Amino acid sequence: MDTKLLFQDPASFGTPLLAVFAVDISVGESESPSPALLCTSNTLANATATWFGSGEFKASLGETLLLHSPSNAKPERLLVIGLGKAKSLTVQEIRKGAGVAVRFAKPRGIYELAIAFPEDRALSDERMDTLPCYQTSRAIAEGALIADFDIDIYRSDRKDHAIKLVSILAKEADKQSQAEIQTGFEEGVILGHAQNFARSLVNEPGNVLTPTELGRRTAAMCAEQGLQCDVHSIDKILELKMGALAAVTQGSPEPPALIVMRYEPPVAPAEGSPVLALVGKGITFDTGGISIKPAENMDKMKYDMAGAAAMIGAMQAIAQLKPNVRVMSIICSCENMPDGKAFKPGDVITAMSGKTIEILNTDAEGRLVLADGLHYAKTLGATHLINAATLTGAIGVALGLLNAGLFSNDDETTRHFLDVYPITGEKFWRMPCTDDYREQIKSQIADIMNTGGSRYGGAISAAMFLKEFAGDTPWIHLDIAGTAWLDDNKPWQSKGPSGIGVRSITEWVRSYAI
Ligand code: BES
Ligand code: ZN
Ligand code: ZN
Repeated sequence: MDTKLLFQDPASFGTPLLAVFAVDISVGESESPSPALLCTSNTLANATATWFGSGEFKASLGETLLLHSPSNAKPERLLVIGLGKAKSLTVQEIRKGAGVAVRFAKPRGIYELAIAFPEDRALSDERMDTLPCYQTSRAIAEGALIADFDIDIYRSDRKDHAIKLVSILAKEADKQSQAEIQTGFEEGVILGHAQNFARSLVNEPGNVLTPTELGRRTAAMCAEQGLQCDVHSIDKILELKMGALAAVTQGSPEPPALIVMRYEPPVAPAEGSPVLALVGKGITFDTGGISIKPAENMDKMKYDMAGAAAMIGAMQAIAQLKPNVRVMSIICSCENMPDGKAFKPGDVITAMSGKTIEILNTDAEGRLVLADGLHYAKTLGATHLINAATLTGAIGVALGLLNAGLFSNDDETTRHFLDVYPITGEKFWRMPCTDDYREQIKSQIADIMNTGGSRYGGAISAAMFLKEFAGDTPWIHLDIAGTAWLDDNKPWQSKGPSGIGVRSITEWVRSYAI
């Protein structure tokens, strides 16, 4: 899908479909809905007036109204997209609205469309807050690209629906706003593609995306983007004494992959500047191992490398955005399989850090591979660690499927991460990770055990385990098990891999740039 930004009047733009946004300016529950266009064009206002007056269209979020041949306007069709209440409007709704435009057009065989940049000056200040140009533009580009992604790549009857071009039409006149819109658009395109790349990796079945294939695709992306990349085999894993990663992989005939990516900024940062490490859980299929999972929904465990995919996607974006900060990414990838050679409950293994781990459940494998990934990143000079993982079912129990869990040993690092929400729109909720929870992973046999002693707070036990390996280094753990896969289609996004994390992790990295 191609994307274009043009500074011109939407009503006089020739296109098969023009999408314009509308909001509901009614206040409170008692007033009946009152739609208003976020567009100053009189032509478009006239074309929609009858419909807005009839009460048929309420401008609720995701609601659509299609008009053919709007009079005096050049577009063949006018698609009005509701964004909900004017007063509470943010760029997060605009991202979704742009997605609705694309997912409306696609199944109808409309492969070229335009989206009118929302004009906040269409409404008075007391009706609606100002929309920041950069964020709005970025959200439209991201939303349109994210909406273009579908999961049906292996269907023989797949209709060749492919959006060719989305043009964003902004009427904005002053130079400063134009520059902001341009930057937002360019960055949004980079992030939208990066998020879709991550989703395409997660969407692949386990028989296609083995650790070796993940290594190949990551290396190909790095070669294209000018990132340094090494894909290490089991020999290096054993040489580094990564006993935890080695234990998880030993039940699988598929070779593991330890992927190391590096981004060097164009101008070398001063000595002592931060070195950020992005560590990803890359289990390409999680059967649970000897502590095998039930058959129901096991197919979904192909997504157990979504943390790795988030990091790989973020690295793609970072390579293009070129922030002035050093970044490395470590992906620990293998399968978790039951086998005569597989690791077993009761085994005691030694991680790269030297800590001994009593295995109580082989299905708690993510924390094991990450333990070695986090420690390895520190030996490579990381000053700040962030990891992403589909780590526990318990995070979904705790937070539902809307917020991902954030755990950290450092408030300042957490602030850097949570502060980017207005730009990214990805929801993360900070969970406790204080030392009084350490009791839960104490072992009688070894330094720690790989599952909590209690069945309560499972996501916290997992985080406490990782915290042991982060040590004193500022660290964030993102548990994305509840949010990396959408079970249902949304009007702005296909079901399947969500690509959560790519935008936030990239923005977190940028917050350290000098
Ligand atoms: N990959 C799973 C996490 C998961 C579980 C994601 C269910 C989505 C749904 C992880 O490796 C795992 O199996 N975790 C166990 C940990 C337990 C054995 C302590 C879990 O959450 O059940
Ligand atoms: Zn597991
Ligand atoms: Zn897992």
